[in-house]
Amino acid sequence: MSNPTSNPDSTPASNLGSTPTIESILHEDRLFQPPAELAAQAKFKSFSDYEAIYAKAKADPAAFWGELAQQELHWFEPWKQVLDWRPPFAKWFEGGKINISYNCLDRHLTTWRKNKAALIWEGEPGDSRTLTYAQLHREVCQMANVLKELGVQKGDRVGIYMPMIPEAAIAMLACARIGAPHSVVFGGFSAEALRDRLVDAQAKLVITADGGFRKDKVVALKEQVDNALANNAAPSVQNVLVVQRTKEPIIMETGRDHWWHELQTNASADCPAEPMNSEDMLFILYTSGSTGKPKGVVHTTAGYNLYTHVTTQWTFDLQDTDIYWCTADVGWITGHSYIVYGPLSNGATTVMYEGVPRPSNPGCFWDVIEKYGVTIFYTAPTAIRTFIKMGDQHPKARNLSSLRILGTVGEPINPEAWMWYHTVIGKERCPIVDTWWQTETGGFMITPLPGATPTKPGSATRPFPGILAEVVDLDGNPVADNEGGYLVITHPWPSMLRTVYGDDDRFRRTYWEHIAPKDGQYLYFAGDGARRDEDGYFWIMGRVDDVISVSGHRLGTMEIESALVSHPAVAEAAVVGRPDEVKGEDVVAFITLEGTYRGSDTLKSELKQHVVAEIGAIARPSDIRFADALPKTRSGKIMRRLLRTLASGQEVSGDTSTLEDRSVLDALREDA
Ligand code: WTA
Repeated sequence: MSNPTSNPDSTPASNLGSTPTIESILHEDRLFQPPAELAAQAKFKSFSDYEAIYAKAKADPAAFWGELAQQELHWFEPWKQVLDWRPPFAKWFEGGKINISYNCLDRHLTTWRKNKAALIWEGEPGDSRTLTYAQLHREVCQMANVLKELGVQKGDRVGIYMPMIPEAAIAMLACARIGAPHSVVFGGFSAEALRDRLVDAQAKLVITADGGFRKDKVVALKEQVDNALANNAAPSVQNVLVVQRTKEPIIMETGRDHWWHELQTNASADCPAEPMNSEDMLFILYTSGSTGKPKGVVHTTAGYNLYTHVTTQWTFDLQDTDIYWCTADVGWITGHSYIVYGPLSNGATTVMYEGVPRPSNPGCFWDVIEKYGVTIFYTAPTAIRTFIKMGDQHPKARNLSSLRILGTVGEPINPEAWMWYHTVIGKERCPIVDTWWQTETGGFMITPLPGATPTKPGSATRPFPGILAEVVDLDGNPVADNEGGYLVITHPWPSMLRTVYGDDDRFRRTYWEHIAPKDGQYLYFAGDGARRDEDGYFWIMGRVDDVISVSGHRLGTMEIESALVSHPAVAEAAVVGRPDEVKGEDVVAFITLEGTYRGSDTLKSELKQHVVAEIGAIARPSDIRFADALPKTRSGKIMRRLLRTLASGQEVSGDTSTLEDRSVLDALREDA
């Protein structure tokens, strides 16, 4: 594909890749009941409790969410209507006034929680910090005032490009407090990727740090921001606010760059939360799709607040004494919903960890659990598989007895990893909540409730109350039990994405038109294949589009292809995912070269580095293969299924009759 930009997102459903087949699904019939002791204390104590609340929510979703909104959140003004659904556009709690920073902070200050630990932070080189609700509130108010002084007004977008330090959460809450939507960009993205996102969001200010510590290295975040803004490439950005973290030397541009700690010194801690309309934008978060540039997923205030609040409380059976730890980065939706907003809205203690597992620190997660007495631990299958490889001696040498609930997210968890998590970490007494959801859904969609839902290794089990999920064929007809199909959501929910930033049309095409609306009913197309078993349990089978998941990070193959073809040596590029034992998938690129260029190991390294510079290290191809031509159908489409087979080293079987030139196939196989 020489220029993969035309007509983005118009992928007709028939191009979505093969419908998942039953053969591809592992047969699994182990069933684990919730531990009796935990169930006895839980809000939902039995499967019939779950079924009852599910039935209640399904019978009248608006009444269900309305009741919870009143019970669980503080409102400056009540809403007039729970749901206004003009497919595919939804409005929740219209007429209401609310502020999520108020719900996460202020309302706890008049209770015993005022001096409870809100945020416990464990820094990578071993430093740590705890902020109580009162302290967190104070710092958020100060930074909200700093943002105002720097000219940020309600509605202005703010870019956040930070390491995993408390200031990242403070920055998000400060933006929310004054009604300035944030756009957090994961600190592992390159300057190029950052610039694209700042430009698309028209960010007025960027909050960053001099650097961060990641995998035994210092990451020069401020330098990346300088590169992103160089040559006035993101002209909307007027100021940069810099947290001092590493103390490595950086360049501060007079007039544009400001030290966080200097401005904080004189900032007032009095900053009332701005009453926001329910549907005011809370944040934009960019995510990869099958085509085109990453999409700015838009979330709004009230529905997101309610849904992350309720899902955190019920899915983790949150108790006042819990020490809750989610290992995600705040640069992803998991960090937004389940490190910051959901836990804080509930007045919980949330742990934030700057480190990531790596060979030099094979016990790092278990150390944090032991040190703080973590009771709820939420991580990703890729991390679990990494720890399996590192050996059981590390967790076994730590005291993990504080744990009571385990969670997983990001990709399907293989039963083997599930069983290891269950036995070695959970000591067979902690339920595992396998939560299926997406950037677009804002919160958990399919997940067990730990005291109520019996679990099966590898299944995300049943939909959350209020969520109506189906597995359908391309015409939107439900498929039979145990037959593979496309996962869809058939009724709107409070934290659904409202649109793609600045592009309603793309929103409609990407999520609502792959499966044709039937009888006026719009189905939300998740992009995942799934099957539902005879117990109504969902088994997620992975993406059916050209999105791959590398260590749980979502990457569009077309983004990586665009990065590759922007290199002068590359004529065409096709990128596919190859199954990897630890990372889930890794990136393999097939490339044809321009005129005089010749394939070599040096060029391979150069192209890998080029992708790192264009997107970030998470997208680095692990394998590059040069070819004279890419396999195409007679109508000129790259045959990705075939490339996937080749990438994984398997023999190509099945129908290759549409292949334009069979010699292409032989050549590619030889290079492998
Ligand atoms: C995948 C992450 C299986 C899925 C919260 C989805 C999962 C994509 C699970 C969204 C799970 C997430 N089981 N697959 N429990 N959770 N996925 O937007 O393919 O980064 O579409 O959100 O991750 O990735 P995203």
